Amino acid sequence: MNEFSRHRRLRRNATMRSMVRETTIDPADFIYPLFIVEGEGVRNEVSSMPGVEHVSLDELSKDIDEITDLGIPAVLLFGVPKVKDAEGSQAYAEDGIVQQATRFIKERAPELIVIADTCLCQYTDHGHCGVIHNGYVENDASLDLLVKTAVSQAEAGADVIAPSNMMDGFVHAIRQGLDEHGFVDIPIMSYAVKYASSFYGPFRDAAHSTPQFGDRKTYQMDPANRFEAVREAESDIAEGADFLIVKPALSFLDVIRDVRDLSTLPVVAYNVSGEYSMIKAAAKEGWLSEQEVVMEMLTSMKRAGADLIVTYFAKDAVRWIKEEKNER
Ligand code: PBG
Repeated sequence: MNEFSRHRRLRRNATMRSMVRETTIDPADFIYPLFIVEGEGVRNEVSSMPGVEHVSLDELSKDIDEITDLGIPAVLLFGVPKVKDAEGSQAYAEDGIVQQATRFIKERAPELIVIADTCLCQYTDHGHCGVIHNGYVENDASLDLLVKTAVSQAEAGADVIAPSNMMDGFVHAIRQGLDEHGFVDIPIMSYAVKYASSFYGPFRDAAHSTPQFGDRKTYQMDPANRFEAVREAESDIAEGADFLIVKPALSFLDVIRDVRDLSTLPVVAYNVSGEYSMIKAAAKEGWLSEQEVVMEMLTSMKRAGADLIVTYFAKDAVRWIKEEKNER
Protein backbone atom coordinates (compact mmCIF):
# COMPACT_ATOMS: atom_id res chain seq x y z
CA MET A 1 0.00 0.00 0.00
CA ASN A 2 1.23 3.50 -0.87
CA GLU A 3 1.27 5.85 2.06
CA PHE A 4 0.07 8.74 0.00
CA SER A 5 -0.92 9.60 -3.59
CA ARG A 6 1.42 11.29 -6.04
CA HIS A 7 -0.99 13.55 -7.94
CA ARG A 8 1.89 15.62 -9.24
CA ARG A 9 2.94 12.78 -11.59
CA LEU A 10 0.35 14.01 -14.06
CA ARG A 11 1.42 17.63 -13.78
CA ARG A 12 5.12 17.33 -14.56
CA ASN A 13 5.17 19.10 -17.90
CA ALA A 14 2.87 20.89 -20.33
CA THR A 15 2.32 17.91 -22.61
CA MET A 16 1.34 15.66 -19.73
CA ARG A 17 -0.99 18.33 -18.39
CA SER A 18 -2.68 18.78 -21.72
CA MET A 19 -3.16 15.01 -22.06
CA VAL A 20 -5.12 14.85 -18.82
CA ARG A 21 -7.04 18.12 -19.24
CA GLU A 22 -10.72 17.43 -18.65
CA THR A 23 -12.30 20.63 -19.99
CA THR A 24 -11.49 22.46 -23.19
CA ILE A 25 -12.92 25.52 -24.88
CA ASP A 26 -13.42 25.93 -28.57
CA PRO A 27 -14.48 28.89 -30.77
CA ALA A 28 -17.67 26.91 -31.54
CA ASP A 29 -18.73 27.27 -27.89
CA PHE A 30 -19.35 31.01 -28.06
CA ILE A 31 -22.31 33.28 -28.66
CA TYR A 32 -21.46 36.98 -29.07
CA PRO A 33 -23.99 39.65 -27.99
CA LEU A 34 -24.49 42.70 -30.23
CA PHE A 35 -26.24 45.99 -29.41
CA ILE A 36 -27.86 47.54 -32.47
CA VAL A 37 -28.99 51.16 -32.42
CA GLU A 38 -31.03 53.25 -34.82
CA GLY A 39 -29.41 56.04 -36.82
CA GLU A 40 -26.42 56.24 -39.13
CA GLY A 41 -22.68 56.07 -38.63
CA VAL A 42 -23.02 55.16 -34.97
CA ARG A 43 -20.19 53.28 -33.29
CA ASN A 44 -20.07 54.27 -29.64
CA GLU A 45 -18.31 52.42 -26.88
CA VAL A 46 -20.55 51.65 -23.89
CA SER A 47 -18.77 53.51 -21.10
CA SER A 48 -19.29 50.82 -18.47
CA MET A 49 -18.26 48.04 -20.88
CA PRO A 50 -14.93 48.89 -22.55
CA GLY A 51 -14.64 47.09 -25.89
CA VAL A 52 -18.43 46.74 -26.31
CA GLU A 53 -20.07 49.10 -28.77
CA HIS A 54 -23.42 50.37 -29.91
CA VAL A 55 -23.48 50.08 -33.68
CA SER A 56 -25.96 51.23 -36.28
CA LEU A 57 -26.97 49.04 -39.22
CA ASP A 58 -24.71 50.77 -41.73
CA GLU A 59 -21.71 49.96 -39.51
CA LEU A 60 -22.70 46.38 -38.76
CA SER A 61 -21.03 44.67 -41.72
CA LYS A 62 -17.60 45.22 -40.14
CA ASP A 63 -18.64 43.45 -36.97
CA ILE A 64 -20.30 40.61 -38.83
CA ASP A 65 -17.24 40.02 -41.01
CA GLU A 66 -14.96 40.02 -37.99
CA ILE A 67 -17.19 37.56 -36.11
CA THR A 68 -17.46 35.15 -39.02
CA ASP A 69 -13.71 35.38 -39.77
CA LEU A 70 -13.02 34.40 -36.17
CA GLY A 71 -15.30 31.38 -36.49
CA ILE A 72 -17.80 32.43 -33.83
CA PRO A 73 -20.98 30.54 -34.78
CA ALA A 74 -23.70 32.77 -33.35
CA VAL A 75 -24.70 36.27 -32.31
CA LEU A 76 -27.34 37.34 -29.79
CA LEU A 77 -29.13 40.51 -30.88
CA PHE A 78 -30.27 43.30 -28.58
CA GLY A 79 -32.03 46.33 -30.01
CA VAL A 80 -31.82 49.84 -28.59
CA PRO A 81 -34.77 51.68 -30.16
CA LYS A 82 -35.24 55.45 -30.29
CA VAL A 83 -38.94 55.35 -29.49
CA LYS A 84 -40.29 53.60 -26.41
CA ASP A 85 -43.91 53.25 -25.28
CA ALA A 86 -46.00 51.51 -22.63
CA GLU A 87 -46.42 48.32 -24.67
CA GLY A 88 -42.92 48.18 -26.17
CA SER A 89 -44.36 48.21 -29.70
CA GLN A 90 -40.96 48.58 -31.38
CA ALA A 91 -40.14 45.08 -30.13
CA TYR A 92 -42.64 43.58 -32.60
CA ALA A 93 -42.62 46.21 -35.36
CA GLU A 94 -41.85 44.79 -38.79
CA ASP A 95 -39.17 47.45 -39.24
CA GLY A 96 -38.01 47.26 -35.61
CA ILE A 97 -34.29 47.51 -35.09
CA VAL A 98 -33.75 43.81 -34.32
CA GLN A 99 -35.91 42.78 -37.30
CA GLN A 100 -33.87 45.04 -39.60
CA ALA A 101 -30.57 43.82 -38.17
CA THR A 102 -31.66 40.19 -38.55
CA ARG A 103 -32.49 40.66 -42.23
CA PHE A 104 -29.19 42.43 -42.76
CA ILE A 105 -27.09 39.73 -41.07
CA LYS A 106 -28.84 36.82 -42.79
CA GLU A 107 -28.11 38.50 -46.10
CA ARG A 108 -24.47 39.26 -45.27
CA ALA A 109 -23.59 35.99 -43.52
CA PRO A 110 -26.28 33.35 -44.06
CA GLU A 111 -24.33 30.75 -42.06
CA LEU A 112 -24.08 32.88 -38.92
CA ILE A 113 -26.77 31.87 -36.43
CA VAL A 114 -28.90 34.85 -35.41
CA ILE A 115 -30.40 34.51 -31.95
CA ALA A 116 -32.99 37.17 -31.16
CA ASP A 117 -33.36 38.20 -27.53
CA THR A 118 -37.10 38.31 -26.98
CA CYS A 119 -37.96 40.79 -24.26
CA LEU A 120 -39.75 44.11 -23.87
CA CYS A 121 -37.60 46.02 -21.38
CA GLN A 122 -35.52 47.87 -23.97
CA TYR A 123 -38.72 48.91 -25.74
CA THR A 124 -41.02 49.96 -22.88
CA ASP A 125 -40.95 53.50 -21.51
CA HIS A 126 -41.17 52.10 -17.95
CA GLY A 127 -38.25 49.69 -18.55
CA HIS A 128 -40.04 46.56 -17.33
CA CYS A 129 -40.08 43.30 -19.25
CA GLY A 130 -43.88 43.17 -19.59
CA VAL A 131 -46.98 45.35 -19.54
CA ILE A 132 -47.98 47.16 -16.37
CA HIS A 133 -51.45 47.03 -14.82
CA ASN A 134 -51.90 48.88 -11.53
CA GLY A 135 -48.17 49.04 -10.96
CA TYR A 136 -47.70 45.28 -11.42
CA VAL A 137 -46.11 43.48 -14.37
CA GLU A 138 -49.02 41.43 -15.78
CA ASN A 139 -48.05 37.94 -16.78
CA ASP A 140 -50.60 36.81 -19.34
CA ALA A 141 -51.05 40.15 -21.10
CA SER A 142 -47.26 40.30 -21.48
CA LEU A 143 -47.22 36.84 -23.06
CA ASP A 144 -49.33 38.06 -26.00
CA LEU A 145 -46.77 40.77 -26.80
CA LEU A 146 -43.87 38.37 -26.43
CA VAL A 147 -45.44 35.94 -28.87
CA LYS A 148 -45.91 38.79 -31.34
CA THR A 149 -42.26 39.76 -30.86
CA ALA A 150 -41.00 36.21 -31.34
CA VAL A 151 -43.09 35.69 -34.49
CA SER A 152 -41.92 38.96 -36.01
CA GLN A 153 -38.30 38.05 -35.25
CA ALA A 154 -38.77 34.66 -36.91
CA GLU A 155 -40.41 36.34 -39.91
CA ALA A 156 -37.34 38.56 -40.22
CA GLY A 157 -35.20 35.41 -40.40
CA ALA A 158 -34.01 34.80 -36.83
CA ASP A 159 -32.64 31.27 -36.44
CA VAL A 160 -33.30 31.02 -32.71
CA ILE A 161 -35.72 32.79 -30.35
CA ALA A 162 -34.33 33.57 -26.88
CA PRO A 163 -37.07 34.78 -24.50
CA SER A 164 -35.51 36.50 -21.48
CA ASN A 165 -38.42 38.17 -19.74
CA MET A 166 -39.21 35.55 -17.08
CA MET A 167 -43.00 35.57 -17.47
CA ASP A 168 -44.52 32.20 -16.55
CA GLY A 169 -45.47 30.13 -19.57
CA PHE A 170 -43.40 32.04 -22.10
CA VAL A 171 -41.92 28.94 -23.68
CA HIS A 172 -45.38 27.36 -24.06
CA ALA A 173 -46.90 30.53 -25.53
CA ILE A 174 -44.01 31.26 -27.90
CA ARG A 175 -43.80 27.63 -29.08
CA GLN A 176 -47.50 27.68 -29.91
CA GLY A 177 -47.21 31.07 -31.65
CA LEU A 178 -44.22 30.01 -33.73
CA ASP A 179 -45.86 26.73 -34.73
CA GLU A 180 -49.11 28.45 -35.74
CA HIS A 181 -47.12 30.72 -38.03
CA GLY A 182 -45.25 27.86 -39.66
CA PHE A 183 -42.01 28.21 -37.69
CA VAL A 184 -41.97 24.67 -36.35
CA ASP A 185 -38.23 24.40 -37.01
CA ILE A 186 -37.19 27.51 -35.08
CA PRO A 187 -35.75 26.50 -31.69
CA ILE A 188 -36.33 28.31 -28.40
CA MET A 189 -33.28 29.11 -26.30
CA SER A 190 -35.02 29.82 -23.04
CA TYR A 191 -33.62 32.00 -20.29
CA ALA A 192 -34.91 29.21 -18.09
CA VAL A 193 -33.08 30.29 -14.95
CA LYS A 194 -32.60 34.02 -14.66
CA TYR A 195 -31.84 35.68 -11.37
CA ALA A 196 -32.66 39.24 -10.29
CA SER A 197 -28.96 40.06 -10.31
CA SER A 198 -27.00 43.23 -9.66
CA PHE A 199 -24.48 41.96 -12.20
CA TYR A 200 -26.76 43.28 -14.98
CA GLY A 201 -25.95 46.91 -14.12
CA PRO A 202 -23.62 47.68 -17.06
CA PHE A 203 -26.02 46.00 -19.54
CA ARG A 204 -28.82 48.31 -18.47
CA ASP A 205 -26.55 51.24 -19.35
CA ALA A 206 -25.85 49.59 -22.68
CA ALA A 207 -29.45 48.70 -23.49
CA HIS A 208 -31.06 51.69 -21.78
CA SER A 209 -33.35 49.27 -19.98
CA THR A 210 -33.19 50.26 -16.32
CA PRO A 211 -36.66 49.92 -14.76
CA GLN A 212 -38.11 53.38 -14.10
CA PHE A 213 -39.81 52.22 -10.90
CA GLY A 214 -39.34 49.23 -8.62
CA ASP A 215 -37.16 46.30 -9.61
CA ARG A 216 -37.48 42.97 -11.41
CA LYS A 217 -37.86 40.82 -8.31
CA THR A 218 -41.49 39.84 -8.99
CA TYR A 219 -40.41 38.02 -12.14
CA GLN A 220 -36.66 37.33 -11.96
CA MET A 221 -35.43 34.86 -9.35
CA ASP A 222 -34.00 35.35 -5.88
CA PRO A 223 -30.22 34.62 -6.03
CA ALA A 224 -30.56 32.65 -2.78
CA ASN A 225 -32.63 29.92 -4.43
CA ARG A 226 -31.34 26.71 -5.92
CA PHE A 227 -34.37 24.37 -5.92
CA GLU A 228 -36.45 27.06 -7.58
CA ALA A 229 -33.98 26.96 -10.47
CA VAL A 230 -34.73 23.28 -10.85
CA ARG A 231 -38.47 24.03 -10.98
CA GLU A 232 -37.94 26.79 -13.56
CA ALA A 233 -35.83 24.51 -15.75
CA GLU A 234 -38.28 21.61 -15.42
CA SER A 235 -41.23 23.71 -16.53
CA ASP A 236 -39.35 25.08 -19.55
CA ILE A 237 -38.34 21.56 -20.55
CA ALA A 238 -41.98 20.45 -20.28
CA GLU A 239 -43.09 23.46 -22.35
CA GLY A 240 -40.71 22.55 -25.16
CA ALA A 241 -37.50 24.56 -24.71
CA ASP A 242 -34.62 23.48 -26.97
CA PHE A 243 -31.79 25.12 -24.99
CA LEU A 244 -31.64 26.15 -21.32
CA ILE A 245 -29.84 29.33 -20.28
CA VAL A 246 -28.56 29.97 -16.77
CA LYS A 247 -27.93 33.63 -16.05
CA PRO A 248 -25.72 35.09 -14.58
CA ALA A 249 -22.99 32.46 -14.75
CA LEU A 250 -20.11 33.20 -12.43
CA SER A 251 -22.00 33.38 -9.13
CA PHE A 252 -24.28 30.52 -10.23
CA LEU A 253 -21.90 27.73 -11.27
CA ASP A 254 -23.68 25.36 -8.87
CA VAL A 255 -26.95 26.08 -10.67
CA ILE A 256 -25.34 25.41 -14.07
CA ARG A 257 -24.32 22.03 -12.67
CA ASP A 258 -27.82 21.33 -11.35
CA VAL A 259 -29.39 22.14 -14.73
CA ARG A 260 -26.76 20.05 -16.51
CA ASP A 261 -27.58 17.05 -14.30
CA LEU A 262 -31.31 17.57 -14.73
CA SER A 263 -31.52 17.59 -18.51
CA THR A 264 -29.83 16.38 -21.64
CA LEU A 265 -30.69 19.62 -23.48
CA PRO A 266 -27.82 21.95 -24.36
CA VAL A 267 -27.05 24.23 -21.41
CA VAL A 268 -25.99 27.82 -22.03
CA ALA A 269 -24.14 29.97 -19.48
CA TYR A 270 -24.68 33.72 -19.80
CA ASN A 271 -21.48 35.47 -18.68
CA VAL A 272 -23.21 38.80 -18.00
CA SER A 273 -22.17 42.42 -18.27
CA GLY A 274 -21.05 42.90 -14.65
CA GLU A 275 -18.84 39.81 -14.89
CA TYR A 276 -17.25 41.39 -17.94
CA SER A 277 -16.85 44.91 -16.60
CA MET A 278 -15.30 43.94 -13.28
CA ILE A 279 -12.52 42.02 -15.02
CA LYS A 280 -12.00 44.87 -17.50
CA ALA A 281 -11.68 47.36 -14.65
CA ALA A 282 -9.27 45.23 -12.61
CA ALA A 283 -7.16 44.46 -15.69
CA LYS A 284 -6.94 48.15 -16.55
CA GLU A 285 -5.55 48.80 -13.10
CA GLY A 286 -3.02 46.02 -13.64
CA TRP A 287 -4.48 44.03 -10.74
CA LEU A 288 -4.85 40.81 -12.67
CA SER A 289 -3.99 39.31 -16.03
CA GLU A 290 -7.06 39.69 -18.24
CA GLN A 291 -6.38 36.80 -20.59
CA GLU A 292 -5.60 34.30 -17.85
CA VAL A 293 -8.52 35.29 -15.66
CA VAL A 294 -11.00 35.30 -18.54
CA MET A 295 -9.93 31.87 -19.76
CA GLU A 296 -10.09 30.48 -16.21
CA MET A 297 -13.57 31.92 -15.77
CA LEU A 298 -14.89 30.62 -19.10
CA THR A 299 -13.34 27.20 -18.46
CA SER A 300 -15.06 27.05 -15.08
CA MET A 301 -18.43 27.62 -16.78
CA LYS A 302 -17.80 24.71 -19.12
CA ARG A 303 -16.53 22.57 -16.25
CA ALA A 304 -19.74 23.34 -14.36
CA GLY A 305 -21.65 21.83 -17.29
CA ALA A 306 -22.30 24.54 -19.87
CA ASP A 307 -22.14 23.54 -23.53
CA LEU A 308 -22.23 27.12 -24.80
CA ILE A 309 -21.31 30.50 -23.34
CA VAL A 310 -22.80 33.87 -24.16
CA THR A 311 -19.96 36.30 -23.49
CA TYR A 312 -18.76 39.79 -24.36
CA PHE A 313 -15.26 38.25 -24.25
CA ALA A 314 -16.02 35.91 -27.19
CA LYS A 315 -13.87 37.69 -29.77
CA ASP A 316 -10.88 38.01 -27.42
CA ALA A 317 -11.23 34.46 -26.17
CA VAL A 318 -11.26 33.07 -29.70
CA ARG A 319 -8.13 35.05 -30.56
CA TRP A 320 -6.37 33.77 -27.45
CA ILE A 321 -7.40 30.17 -28.14
CA LYS A 322 -6.04 30.44 -31.70
CA GLU A 323 -2.77 32.01 -30.53
CA GLU A 324 -2.26 29.22 -28.04
CA LYS A 325 -2.91 26.59 -30.70
CA ASN A 326 -0.31 28.24 -32.96
CA GLU A 327 2.25 28.27 -30.19
CA ARG A 328 1.90 24.56 -29.63
C1 PBG B 1 -33.36 41.86 -20.69
C2 PBG B 1 -32.00 41.37 -20.48
C3 PBG B 1 -31.07 41.70 -19.47
C4 PBG B 1 -29.87 41.08 -19.79
C5 PBG B 1 -30.10 40.36 -20.95
N1 PBG B 1 -31.43 40.52 -21.34
C6 PBG B 1 -31.13 42.64 -18.35
C7 PBG B 1 -32.14 42.58 -17.33
O1 PBG B 1 -32.85 41.61 -17.12
O2 PBG B 1 -32.24 43.62 -16.70
C8 PBG B 1 -28.59 41.21 -19.02
C9 PBG B 1 -27.38 40.92 -19.79
C10 PBG B 1 -26.12 41.32 -19.14
O3 PBG B 1 -26.07 41.86 -18.02
O4 PBG B 1 -25.10 41.10 -19.79
N2 PBG B 1 -34.37 41.24 -20.02
